[in-house]
Amino acid sequence: MSGVEFGAPIRREHFGFKEGYAFVNHGSFGAVPGPVLRRQRQLLDISHANPDEFYKVTEQRLYDQARDAVAQFLGSKPGNLVFVPNTTTGCNTILKCMPWKRGDEILASNFTFGANVNACRNVAEAIKGKFHQFEIRFPISDPSEIVKSMTSYLDNFPKIRLVLLDHISSPSALVLPLREMIAECRKRRVLVMVDGAHAVGQLRINLEDIGADFYFGSCSKWLYTPRGCAVLWVAEEHQKCCIPLIISLKHRTGFHSEFRCQGTRDNVPYLAVPEAIQFLEDIGGLEKVHAYTEMLLGKACRILWERLGAKPVKIPESIEAPNIRLIQLPVFPGYPVTYEGARRLNLDLMEHHKVVCLICAIQDHFYLRLSANVYNEVSDFVKLADALCELSRTKTTKVYTVTYKCKM
Ligand SMILES: Cc1ncc(COP(=O)(O)O)c(C=O)c1O
Repeated sequence: MSGVEFGAPIRREHFGFKEGYAFVNHGSFGAVPGPVLRRQRQLLDISHANPDEFYKVTEQRLYDQARDAVAQFLGSKPGNLVFVPNTTTGCNTILKCMPWKRGDEILASNFTFGANVNACRNVAEAIKGKFHQFEIRFPISDPSEIVKSMTSYLDNFPKIRLVLLDHISSPSALVLPLREMIAECRKRRVLVMVDGAHAVGQLRINLEDIGADFYFGSCSKWLYTPRGCAVLWVAEEHQKCCIPLIISLKHRTGFHSEFRCQGTRDNVPYLAVPEAIQFLEDIGGLEKVHAYTEMLLGKACRILWERLGAKPVKIPESIEAPNIRLIQLPVFPGYPVTYEGARRLNLDLMEHHKVVCLICAIQDHFYLRLSANVYNEVSDFVKLADALCELSRTKTTKVYTVTYKCKM
């Protein structure tokens, strides 16, 4: 498979995208390549052929194999890592099982993913504590600005017990300087959990080395697994108090067995992990993917800057994610710079221009988060630039209503 050319050839051979569409939003839901999808379907068939044999015998063996494979890929001891269905579950699990004291406080950033912000807020309310968000603002000239913003909160709010850090923030696409940030938390004896939703499969990771207390991240975004597959890593000293959100038959039987047994559910997305890792290796591995995506994103950014007068976001190269770039966009007539305006813009681009991308309203501007993967080529970004140019020229005072309908 290593001979398959990136761009249109690999898209044709291994990805089942709808014809005629440009997909430049891999970061939201990932994409499952042919060999992984075939394994998922095969395992589903096996499970239906003899459910008892599957759940009592086969699944357990395949689960252990999949866990060992992903642990090795992520530099984790197999004993420190379990599967969870998604990143949101990982975050909620940790928040719910922390041995909180009344009045404890939690810190995250203004770029923390909304679902995790809600989960932190909810727990902070329940323990009569507070939830804080330190600020990250563009432009960023040095990663130390982010570290300082966090430490000023830690120093001003001594009740902060847990900090949530994004490995790669979304949608702002910053690789946070984790090493320095975690060291500062450690100095103050504050626990750290890391949201690696975009880092698993995008960055080379060694979970045992990061120095966090907890780490969770999606395999379905950048590691090519089916959706419904994520990992939760827990430092050994916290595993005793770490129980899943679902209390099952295996309650109090140990970290691994409790997380594996979550009632009868479809664990096939977990079991397809070895094929997903194999796919990444077969196409040449992370370094080859990065070389391609960085080349592509460089070209894509130049096209968008020139054609739209869009602005590059000023951040140091050291905190740029390999497969994602952020571009500040001009305004578009008829689309207010709000969450709702961005949502309409995304849906109109999908419905009327066949471009699937992610535009967000951040700090009073529209930002385009560009994702690149092996199936993309320059023409995808040209199609996106064409569509955005057309929308920016449209003189309208009309307030759009979303008309997008799913055609099955
Ligand atoms: C940074 C970040 N954290 C968490 C999530 C939530 O992931 P999931 O939908 O797998 O729970 C996302 C989803 O895009 C994300 O970008």
